[in-house]
Amino acid sequence: MDDFKKHTTKDGSLSLYSLSYEEGFHDKDGALRESIDKYLIPSQLEQFSNTKKIIVLDVCMGLGYNTGCILEELLKSNLTIEWHGLEIDQRPLNLGLNEKIFQEIWSPKVLHFFNCLNKSGRWTEGFNEGTIHWGDARQKIYEIQDSLLFDLILLDPFSPQKCPELWSEEFISLLTERLSFDGRLITYSTAASIRASLKRAGLNIYSIVPSIDAPSRWSSGTVAMKKQLEQQFISKNCLFKHLSTREVEHLATRSSIPYRDPTGKGKSKEIISTRELEQSKSQLINTSSWRKRWNTAQ
Ligand SMILES: C[S@@+](CC[C@H](N)C(=O)[O-])C[C@H]1O[C@@H](n2cnc3c(N)ncnc32)[C@H](O)[C@@H]1O
Repeated sequence: MDDFKKHTTKDGSLSLYSLSYEEGFHDKDGALRESIDKYLIPSQLEQFSNTKKIIVLDVCMGLGYNTGCILEELLKSNLTIEWHGLEIDQRPLNLGLNEKIFQEIWSPKVLHFFNCLNKSGRWTEGFNEGTIHWGDARQKIYEIQDSLLFDLILLDPFSPQKCPELWSEEFISLLTERLSFDGRLITYSTAASIRASLKRAGLNIYSIVPSIDAPSRWSSGTVAMKKQLEQQFISKNCLFKHLSTREVEHLATRSSIPYRDPTGKGKSKEIISTRELEQSKSQLINTSSWRKRWNTAQ
């Protein structure tokens, strides 16, 4: 486990720092808090109350907070759950399951789910079922039958500069093909490149409104959908908003140039350098001018 440094985040939940990616798994403010704010709340599980079954894909399960939070709620409902996870490394889950502060977060049912995945990669409980596909998400996604359309896709890789392969135009387009019409692809990322790729894949994108504890943030992430949300719905629920002028203008800068991985096997360094070259030749507005105009560090 030399690769990972364990630490406790501000809300008391366990997180990891990856020495190989030089990046933390979660916000310092709280691993659990982040999953609730950026994945559970924007999922609006009540939207699925008229359906019988919900199909969920967790891309980069890691310790499993995003799935854990959502399952805590779904397991109290009458919905049948089909869950799939894509994750290259089993060690984070294994490490979490050996830590008391991680175990104590979860109900016995969710802990059982995690233990099943860790032992056999499969979980079943009544009609509910789950499978974790260990390995590179870019290849393992093909293990999931392509007729299966997801109601929720939770996209949580390391940042684009550290793990560009899971933010590529091609991978985003693959995920889009697997999203149901009413489904939601949810990510913490507000990056112009990611939002632009989501848009080019044909999705409508909305900015996640930061919680009242984080008023200084301009966005807490992105929700992308095939369906267009009605203005009345947006105004009423206050969770999402259309992109602001600042966010729309961000999509017209060089930052919006996508990460490209046409073979689905590109190495992160190659993907980054191809993009840098494309940015250097681009006629798009320089991101620094956008930053100056909006006086923002992002
Ligand atoms: C930011 S962490 C995910 C945090 C996680 N959602 C949680 O709640 O703990 C990113 C995860 O992406 C995984 N990962 C990196 N490259 C991957 C790849 N090519 N395919 C699948 N998973 C990958 C890492 O092993 C790591 O667990």
